[in-house]
Amino acid sequence: WVTSSLSVVVVGASGDLAKKKIFPALFALYYEGLLPEEFQIFGYARSKMSDTDFRDLISSTLTCRIDAAEKCGDAQEKFLKRCFYQAGPYDDSSGFAQLNTKMSEQEVSKPRANRMFFLSIPPNVFIAAAGGAAEQCSSKTGWTRVIVEKPFGRDSTSSRELSDGLSRYLREDQTYRIDHYLGKELIENLTVLRFANLVFEPLWNRDYIKSVQVIFSENFGTEGRGGYFDQYGIIRDVIQNHLLQIVALFAMEPPVSLDAEDIRNEKVKVVRSMQPVQLDDVVLGQYKGRKEKNFNLPGYLDDATVPKGSLTPTFAAIAMHINNARWDGVPFLLKAGKALDNRRAEIRVQFRHIPGNIYKHKMGSNMDNTSNELVIRIQPKESIYLKINNKVPGLGLRLDSTKLDLQYQSTYKKELPDAYERLLLDVVNGDKRLFIRFDELEAAWELYTPMLHEIEAKKVAPELYPYGSRGPVGAHYLAAKYNVRWADLE
Ligand code: BG6
Repeated sequence: WVTSSLSVVVVGASGDLAKKKIFPALFALYYEGLLPEEFQIFGYARSKMSDTDFRDLISSTLTCRIDAAEKCGDAQEKFLKRCFYQAGPYDDSSGFAQLNTKMSEQEVSKPRANRMFFLSIPPNVFIAAAGGAAEQCSSKTGWTRVIVEKPFGRDSTSSRELSDGLSRYLREDQTYRIDHYLGKELIENLTVLRFANLVFEPLWNRDYIKSVQVIFSENFGTEGRGGYFDQYGIIRDVIQNHLLQIVALFAMEPPVSLDAEDIRNEKVKVVRSMQPVQLDDVVLGQYKGRKEKNFNLPGYLDDATVPKGSLTPTFAAIAMHINNARWDGVPFLLKAGKALDNRRAEIRVQFRHIPGNIYKHKMGSNMDNTSNELVIRIQPKESIYLKINNKVPGLGLRLDSTKLDLQYQSTYKKELPDAYERLLLDVVNGDKRLFIRFDELEAAWELYTPMLHEIEAKKVAPELYPYGSRGPVGAHYLAAKYNVRWADLE
């Protein structure tokens, strides 16, 4: 950094993601001294705004996560002074040419000017904006990197078209496909847990693991995002990406090293070993409104931005299977839904029963108590705990299920960084470990595309479930087919 400056351009600067995640993350990195000394931030969007308006717009988003507000107020002011704005269209390079001029005016202090773009814009203008940015604003003296965020198409074909379109302007090494779940602390820790602890990896296979559940649930609906959501549905919105990425890291073989390519090679390999999802391994749901005495929770179809009669699923439970020596016969049950009874994301690993258990008759009546379970709670209240069978202290011999419990909040006593902080810093450092390679993306779509097309062709109607419930009953039958019970929130 001695000889280089950094410019970060947020294309789609007035959008929700930019305000909620990108600017706060950039500020947190700046506050912690992780950005180069010479850096500038540029907002680019269609609406006309002065630099001052732009600074006003983002100042309310810069939260003082780390220290008390008084302490970081000063830093906020300094940060805002380095923020600039350029208005322009996404699908015409004229605005990007002006942006380039504006950037060059600021990048005078160092011989090398590195440039990083975050395309936080609707998918229909991805390619045009990537083209405008790459052709008009590529750095002449340093690197140029471009971050793109899902949706990466709607199926294999559209995803390939998008990849081809982007590759006209950007090399693969310049393209950073973000999946923000990979930036979450507990997901990064998955491989540490597996490969840095002798006690887990030897058990990490079909001989010891009976089933794996990956659960994503939100206790709120689409809340005004229905227009976007309806074009994708829950499978494309979170399962094909976030949940599958979790399964890939969970199930992959040990990589040769921590090198990005080595890790991604293993992820692609395991994704390619998975069976494309069959329709009879899928349960779809859509939340309906719920009227109670004191409140009225709107159904998905009550969202004004959702087309009437939409069949788009807001819930899906899916059983996946990995055809390899490690996982043959182990069901991976994925469940994701909006407007459910709780908010959580977790991985649950159910171990097999102890063969010839001599304590069988000393256990509680619930047979589940006899097998161990490892729970990795991604959010909220990040934690990892292993359920073990233990003697209830006192006279007599009775066993109970209890936890070996690692709670992040009490153990580490520090705020965890937001996923976007970690991922943006990785882009600055050119570290691609947590980004999706093009072949991973292709392999991921191949698993879901035939089933998604079948659902659409057959107009499969989702099972309705009330807002705030545990989801459609069908999900329980799917789990029962594999002799599994969905885990409740503990
Ligand atoms: C996004 C989805 O990728 O992830 C949203 O588009 C979802 O629908 C969100 O709400 C969940 O992210 P997090 O980090 O809040 O769990």
